[in-house]
Amino acid sequence: MGLFDNILKGDESLFLDEIALDFDYIPKVLKHRENEQQYVATCIKPLLQERSGRNLFITGKPGIGKTAAIKWVLRELKQETNDIYPIFINCWKHDTSFKIVNYICEQLGYTFTHNKKTDELMNNVAAIINKKAAVFVFDEADKLQEPGVIYNLFEEINKKSIILITNDENYISELDPRIKSRLLLDALVFRPYNFEETKSILKERRDFAFAKNVWEEVAFENIVKKSYELKDIRTGLHLMKEAGVLAENTSSKKIKNEHATKIIENLKAYKLKDSTELTEDQKITLSLVKENSGKSIKELHEIYEKRYGQVPYRTFFDRIKQLERIGNISTKDKEGPGKSNIVTYGTVKKLNEF
Ligand SMILES: Nc1ncnc2c1ncn2[C@@H]1O[C@H](COP(=O)(O)OP(=O)(O)OP(=O)(O)O)[C@@H](O)[C@H]1O
Ligand SMILES: [Mg+2]
Repeated sequence: MGLFDNILKGDESLFLDEIALDFDYIPKVLKHRENEQQYVATCIKPLLQERSGRNLFITGKPGIGKTAAIKWVLRELKQETNDIYPIFINCWKHDTSFKIVNYICEQLGYTFTHNKKTDELMNNVAAIINKKAAVFVFDEADKLQEPGVIYNLFEEINKKSIILITNDENYISELDPRIKSRLLLDALVFRPYNFEETKSILKERRDFAFAKNVWEEVAFENIVKKSYELKDIRTGLHLMKEAGVLAENTSSKKIKNEHATKIIENLKAYKLKDSTELTEDQKITLSLVKENSGKSIKELHEIYEKRYGQVPYRTFFDRIKQLERIGNISTKDKEGPGKSNIVTYGTVKKLNEF
């Protein structure tokens, strides 16, 4: 074996298809959630027979496939029929009645929304949907600022299934009694995956995302263990990606246990979220950091203002710190004269920073 056989060359990559590690990637097969998906399908099924569907309240810990399972069902539904509108609303992004109704219009391809009030748009939406039927999914429902919109949709739409998803088990008890009593929600609790299930899910994503044989088995096993311990697939995906990036940064042809261990040790106690759940401001700031990784907050603030208009430094600073807490970026104090805060995209540190 030559001295340099284990060194990754400039044009080589350990990744085959990095997208398969994205949190919002929907795998072709969603294993170990067949029962839950079946249950959701049963609630929707009456819509296919021109009756109204059942309404559903889904809970479960973060990162265990609630969103993925529902998106998967909606995708199947779309392939099955044109008679039911599948409408998926992320309440983190769309949290007021106005935003939600506008978003539904967009989903329906209805473009005459300019200068119209929420009520008027709601009537337009109802007129369109009532020719058919609809499934409304409110993901992260606890983020809704105006839950009354659920009630309005319930009243206005004839044939529908309304599905609420949240981590917060108590959400339902805090919900407006008026909504609760009308919706008659069925409850579906997603249980966390066991060790074998966690392993097979992560293995499948690994095989899509990485080139063949780049993983040392023990490195992968350790990531599975951590992911199982935290009962969170999202963490497993994040760890695999970061271990891969770290291995590449050190020009290693294999993702070794030392890479996995370092990344696991470095895992922050934050809840990883997919980028679709960020606000518009957060998204813009994040892409700015991505483009300008390594610059100080002050420099980033200047670039931001040139491009997007004025925003107080303090607000921008807080936004950066928030993104750091969510886990998309990291900041580091640079000591010395003119002390500054350097921002880097991603959470992987260089080897000498561990
Ligand atoms: N059975 C599965 N097969 C393949 N991938 C899965 C499975 N379950 C979860 N995942 C993946 O794990 C990640 C997290 O899943 P998802 O976003 O559905 O979690 P969640 O339960 O909605 O979490 P949260 O409550 O934080 O929103 C996603 O990338 C998803 O594709
Ligand atoms: Mg989710």
